[in-house]
Amino acid sequence: MFGLLFATFGVILSAKYSSITVDQSAFLALKSHITHDPYNFLTTNWSTSTSVCSWIGVTCGSRHHRVTALNLSSMDLTGTISSQLGNLSFLAWLDIHQNSFHGSLPIELTNLRRMKYLDFGNNSFNGEIPSWFGCFSKLQRLSLYLNNFIGVIPSTLGNLSKLERLGLSWNQISGRIPNSLFKCKDLKFLSLSSNSLEGSIPTEIGNLTSLKVMALDENNLEGTIPKCIGNMSSSLTAVDLGNNNFHGEIPLVIGNLTSLQSLYLSYNKVSGKIPLVIGNLTSLRELFLDNNKLTGEIPLVIEKLTSLQFLHLSNNKLTGEIPSWFGCFSKLQRLSLYLNNFIGVIPSTLGNLSKLERLGLSWNQISGEIPLVIGNLTSLQMLSLQSNKLTGRIPTPPPLLQWYAVSTNNLIGEIPSSVCNLTSLKVMALDENNLEGTIPKCIGNMSSSLTAVDLGNNNFHGQIPENFAKGCMLRSLGINNNELEGSLPRSLGNCKGLNLLNVGNNNLNDTFPSWLGNLDQLQVLILRSNRFYGQIESFDITVSLTKLRIIDLYHNNFSGYLPTPFFEHMHAIRDEYGKNVEPNYMREVKPTKDAFGVFWVDYASGLSVTAKGLEIKFESLLSIWTVIDLSSNQFRGEIPKILGELHLLLVLNLSHNCLIGPIPSSLGNLSELESLDLSSNKLEGRIPTELKNLGFLEVLNLSQNNLKGPIPQGKQFDTFTKDSYMGNSDLCGFPLSKNCGTDEETPAKFDRDDDGDELNWKFSILMGYGCGLVLGMSMAYIVFTTGKPWWLIRIVERVRQRFAKR
Ligand SMILES: *[C@@H]1O[C@H](CO)[C@@H](O)[C@H](O)[C@H]1NC(C)=O
Ligand SMILES: *[C@@H]1O[C@H](CO)[C@@H](O)[C@H](O)[C@H]1NC(C)=O
Ligand SMILES: *[C@@H]1O[C@H](CO)[C@@H](O)[C@H](O)[C@H]1NC(C)=O
Ligand SMILES: *[C@@H]1O[C@H](CO)[C@@H](O)[C@H](O)[C@H]1NC(C)=O
Ligand SMILES: *[C@@H]1O[C@H](CO)[C@@H](O)[C@H](O)[C@H]1NC(C)=O
Ligand SMILES: *[C@@H]1O[C@H](CO)[C@@H](O)[C@H](O)[C@H]1NC(C)=O
Ligand SMILES: *[C@@H]1O[C@H](CO)[C@@H](O)[C@H](O)[C@H]1NC(C)=O
Ligand SMILES: *[C@@H]1O[C@H](CO)[C@@H](O)[C@H](O)[C@H]1NC(C)=O
Ligand SMILES: *[C@@H]1O[C@H](CO)[C@@H](O)[C@H](O)[C@H]1NC(C)=O
Ligand SMILES: *[C@@H]1O[C@H](CO)[C@@H](O)[C@H](O)[C@H]1NC(C)=O
Ligand SMILES: *[C@@H]1O[C@H](CO)[C@@H](O)[C@H](O)[C@H]1NC(C)=O
Ligand SMILES: *[C@@H]1O[C@H](CO)[C@@H](O)[C@H](O)[C@H]1NC(C)=O
Repeated sequence: MFGLLFATFGVILSAKYSSITVDQSAFLALKSHITHDPYNFLTTNWSTSTSVCSWIGVTCGSRHHRVTALNLSSMDLTGTISSQLGNLSFLAWLDIHQNSFHGSLPIELTNLRRMKYLDFGNNSFNGEIPSWFGCFSKLQRLSLYLNNFIGVIPSTLGNLSKLERLGLSWNQISGRIPNSLFKCKDLKFLSLSSNSLEGSIPTEIGNLTSLKVMALDENNLEGTIPKCIGNMSSSLTAVDLGNNNFHGEIPLVIGNLTSLQSLYLSYNKVSGKIPLVIGNLTSLRELFLDNNKLTGEIPLVIEKLTSLQFLHLSNNKLTGEIPSWFGCFSKLQRLSLYLNNFIGVIPSTLGNLSKLERLGLSWNQISGEIPLVIGNLTSLQMLSLQSNKLTGRIPTPPPLLQWYAVSTNNLIGEIPSSVCNLTSLKVMALDENNLEGTIPKCIGNMSSSLTAVDLGNNNFHGQIPENFAKGCMLRSLGINNNELEGSLPRSLGNCKGLNLLNVGNNNLNDTFPSWLGNLDQLQVLILRSNRFYGQIESFDITVSLTKLRIIDLYHNNFSGYLPTPFFEHMHAIRDEYGKNVEPNYMREVKPTKDAFGVFWVDYASGLSVTAKGLEIKFESLLSIWTVIDLSSNQFRGEIPKILGELHLLLVLNLSHNCLIGPIPSSLGNLSELESLDLSSNKLEGRIPTELKNLGFLEVLNLSQNNLKGPIPQGKQFDTFTKDSYMGNSDLCGFPLSKNCGTDEETPAKFDRDDDGDELNWKFSILMGYGCGLVLGMSMAYIVFTTGKPWWLIRIVERVRQRFAKR
């Protein structure tokens, strides 16, 4: 095969030309292959009225006046590479990176035997990486990153004995890393990141004694981290093996890489302790060991790494206390220790870290008070202390803070008024503490920067601040489970981007906030367990809540008919629009490439659900949940047929109202429905057989009504127990013991008393939870913490899968 190639080259080479006009016609051919030149770089400039050597991007040799370099980088050109380019026989530099060239590379390029520098990066080339690259015996740099190359790395690259830089990252390259590559002894820079490479790292990599940068991250590589990297010791400055499947311990030879400035082993399965030899790497500026299986304490030797700017140890199994000598890392910008088993207090020496921008200690078992000196961290933008055992009051936050998350601790006292001075604050999550006092009025004024505020599950009292200003940027406001009273501030209507409003479990006394209709981004509205009253059916239909997917009005004093126009406008549940919703967590995430993605704050985190007598807490809200819960109010009249058009509805709860009339057969069209609760009303007539179409129905409660006639048989109906039907004197058929078709009716043997009845459960899911994807939380986790609500797990998992398939 290779022999044949060489024969072909020979023929091409024999056609010798020696004039600059050859170069000119090669360029004109290239120009004719360019289909889009938005800035007209070539259109007028590459004109035969001037010498090729004066054309833009072209360099000629001073002696022979032939083209030696072509540089068309970053010109936004679209086109293909013409084969005539192979006629530029003096070309040594070819740089066309950052354009939109596509197609495959013509084999005629092999004629360019003087080639030293090839940069095709950031284009759209496809096909395999040509094996004839191996012919460029003088090549020093080969850059093909960010294209659509597929297939394996050709072993012929091992013939490039002068190669110093090889960049193949961000393609779809698969297979193993060929051993021959390590014959390129001058290689200084090797980047194979973000491909689909597999297998282990060949031990021959140790032959690359000049290597400075080794980036193999984001592949499917496995095995242990090879000891032979110790052979590269003197040269290596950066090693990135992150996002692979490496296992085993960190090899001790790592201690010999004394020039190392960056070490990334994030997102692997590296286990064991952090080796003491790491302390020898005194040039380290970036140490990323996060998202592995490391155990033990942070070794004292790390104390010597005083050049560290980034230290990421999050999501491991590390134990012990947070060392106070971290306070000596005067250059530290990011310290990330979240999701470990750290105990003890936050050392006050951290207050010395004047360059610290991000501090992440969430999800540990850290106790004690938040040191006051944290307020002195003048560079700090992100502070994440969620889910620890912190006590005491909240200290004055540092002035430049943007992300402030201290949720789920045991903090007491009031919100310090100094919060009002945080002019850059975007996210404030103080939920699930024992905070008290009133909500500072300034929150409303700050809403031009604030995007998410969660103060839920505390003891705040008084009124919700009134002054949400025009241009309010709030996307999420959670103040549920407090003792707030009064009305909902109408100025919330200024927060046009509001996604979620959760004021549940307070003492609010107001009518239905129909002015919310202006908020066309609102997806979740939770007013449960307050003193809201009045009718909704008069809701102004000229405005609408088309994106609303969860509405929870449980346990208020709403009255009147069920709001038919309101349901008509719920497009997110009614039509195709809702089907395009991605199953994401609803949370405020700081989008960063590095491991600080954990700086999320969940919308409505810590929501609790009472279902079948169980109190279940959910970590987060999935964007695909659709719930209508109007239960425990005083709604009257019939169930509107239009509810049957809410095709994407998962949970419908109209229980404990004064609804009359039949169950509309249209409810049989709710093909996604998981839970239907119409219990404790005054519904009459038969159970429509159409309900058999509800193929996903996991929970059905029709108890305590006046239903009669036969219970539909077959399909999901075989799975419900008699609990679903109790308190309806005239129902018959399985699972009830009363047979249909006989007239010997005996009085209902079921007690019609509602109180304390095991059946009298409230099913009002407002949820989604951290399944698998985050925090490594599994199904098992949910089971253990909640006492096996298997039916709920089944619902959540099934819905997730169903939506994932779309
Ligand atoms: C083409 O561009 C080069 C470099 O910008 C410039 O020096 C030259 O004058 C231009 N020629 C024409 C004909 O515009
Ligand atoms: C090509 O031009 C760009 C921008 O002027 C420059 O950054 C790059 O180094 C040049 N390439 C070569 C090979 O000189
Ligand atoms: C340039 O190369 C092509 C083949 O790629 C060849 O057919 C053509 O004759 C050459 N043109 C000139 C002007 O040398
Ligand atoms: C790739 O090119 C595009 C413009 O074409 C640019 O926006 C982007 O930053 C480049 N990416 C890299 C990694 O260089
Ligand atoms: C290197 O090139 C020679 C021809 O020059 C070829 O025979 C050999 O197979 C090549 N080696 C590799 C590893 O590609
Ligand atoms: C690596 O180096 C050793 C000794 O220097 C040599 O024997 C071996 O052939 C080299 N391996 C490769 C793939 O170049
Ligand atoms: C690494 O270096 C040792 C000696 O320091 C040598 O014996 C071994 O062959 C080298 N390994 C490789 C893969 O080059
Ligand atoms: C570091 O290298 C030296 C020689 O270069 C060797 O003796 C020593 O064993 C190496 N250390 C480790 C931990 O491999
Ligand atoms: C490397 O670290 C080990 C363990 O901390 C230590 O014993 C050894 O002296 C260090 N070597 C160098 C060269 O610093
Ligand atoms: C914060 O810094 C100021 C001056 O820089 C100092 O006076 C004060 O004591 C520091 N606060 C704490 C709690 O260390
Ligand atoms: C807010 O900042 C102003 C001016 O910087 C200062 O005078 C005031 O004391 C600060 N308020 C609080 C509560 O820290
Ligand atoms: C609600 O507020 C009104 C006056 O604004 C008052 O008359 C009524 O009693 C309150 N209702 C409840 C349940 O607190």
